[in-house]
Amino acid sequence: MGHGRPLHRRHRPLEADEAGARPKSYIEIHTGREKGNPHPAPMALDLALHLVKLSGGSTIIDPFAGSGTTAVAARKLGRSAVLIERDEAYCELAADRLSQLSLLTEAS
Ligand SMILES: C[S@@+](CC[C@H](N)C(=O)[O-])C[C@H]1O[C@@H](n2cnc3c(N)ncnc32)[C@H](O)[C@@H]1O
Repeated sequence: MGHGRPLHRRHRPLEADEAGARPKSYIEIHTGREKGNPHPAPMALDLALHLVKLSGGSTIIDPFAGSGTTAVAARKLGRSAVLIERDEAYCELAADRLSQLSLLTEAS
């Protein structure tokens, strides 16, 4: 009794990265809807920012662009974006969001 190998091994913790951080199996994102975005299913900007940060490339492609949240996140993080969207109204919506962002960036 009390010696030998345990019957049930505990799961080993996830490996730490070079900086010592252990990856979480989930992320917490504010999912509140952005004011004035008429798209029926916009992505939360915080999620887009998170995903763009994870990507190593300088150009992000979003083949289902909708209102362009991915491009907004890319622009905010100094990346380029290529958007594909089949609905012309959403293309215009994305273009409007990006031009508003440019105006805000120029003004500040
Ligand atoms: C869930 S929405 C994307 C929302 C976007 N992430 C945003 O934040 O606004 C998916 C979009 O994909 C577009 N879509 C669906 N099928 C497509 C296709 N075959 N080619 C291009 N766009 C498509 C839809 O019109 C829709 O706007």
